[in-house]
Amino acid sequence: MTDYSVVDRLISNNRLTREECLQLLAILDQDQVKKKLALEACRLREHYYGKKVFTRGLIEFTNYCRNNCYYCGIRRDNKGLDRYRMSEDEIMACCHTGWQLGYRTFVLQGGEDPWFTGERIACLVRRIKEAYPECALTLSIGEHDYPTYKLWKEAGADRYLLRHETASEDLYRKLHPETMSLSNRIRCLRDLKALGYQVGAGFMVGPPGQTMDHLADDLMFLQDLRPEMVGIGPFIPHHQTDFAGEEAGSVDLTIALLSVIRLLLPSCLLPATTALGTLDPLGREKGLMAGANVIMPNLSPTENRKLYELYDNKICVDDQADKCRDCLAGRVRIAGYELVTERGDFQE
Ligand code: 5AD
Ligand code: FES
Repeated sequence: MTDYSVVDRLISNNRLTREECLQLLAILDQDQVKKKLALEACRLREHYYGKKVFTRGLIEFTNYCRNNCYYCGIRRDNKGLDRYRMSEDEIMACCHTGWQLGYRTFVLQGGEDPWFTGERIACLVRRIKEAYPECALTLSIGEHDYPTYKLWKEAGADRYLLRHETASEDLYRKLHPETMSLSNRIRCLRDLKALGYQVGAGFMVGPPGQTMDHLADDLMFLQDLRPEMVGIGPFIPHHQTDFAGEEAGSVDLTIALLSVIRLLLPSCLLPATTALGTLDPLGREKGLMAGANVIMPNLSPTENRKLYELYDNKICVDDQADKCRDCLAGRVRIAGYELVTERGDFQE
């Protein structure tokens, strides 16, 4: 006899022990379980944020990267990729486009590009915050030391996205080269929190070698760190990486995990990711209906977007920013929600 009591315990306590995590993961493929979790996840999301789905204008400003994560299309060893780096003026022009579309949050995302030193990023942050003081500015540019994160915070950055990728030492080693370490990644997340950033962590669902044990570690890690945002998406193979021939992660499992994360961190900001929309044309809508409440439309110039393919077949690479906004507004409405462009700060 299957024991479903763990579902009720999660719903009433918003907590799980590791043992309960494993019990839940074992029944997470069952429709009745997914439905019940999704219903409760949506109730919680609406309690904190109503019907609003928040937008984050994403600017992918450099695809140079000194790192070499085995899954990632812009890894250093991918020699078959043209590299680009936007100028400060080009980045400002993207912000302007975003501002005109109504977006009040900009996310500067890029590889770990050594050309963008701490000081250069700080200048850019100051310039954007001066031009758009009412906008929230998010950085997503990888691992740096405490003084650098501090410099950027003092320059005006509000938020930082750094997925932990996996909380398990053994899986971390299978996905990353020796030069990187899980302990440094976690150190970064703790530093960012200590500095007062709103922090986004997260992981991929279904990279090669991932088991339910690993996912339990991820959920326990999130429960402990309590980040303000959590980005999760299915792993998608990229043809110019060692994982080219591997299978993609499961859309259904990703969606069910969105509900679980909403229940563990009731007021978190949870994006329905582009990777989800890439594997399933209705993936983002399904994510919203399972408890997600953020969408991250791309603001980068279309000529660069193809070159920022972390995985194959990424959607929207040919679409202008205004087209994505209108498309998303329609998709969000069909899912029963309302796309808003305000800052959308974390609610305690
Ligand atoms: N498939 C899915 N997601 C990926 N990312 C990187 N490569 C892939 C891939 N092949 C994710 C990582 C990273 C985020 C920006 O994109 O989790 O943190
Ligand atoms: Fe970009 Fe639909 S979100 S075209």
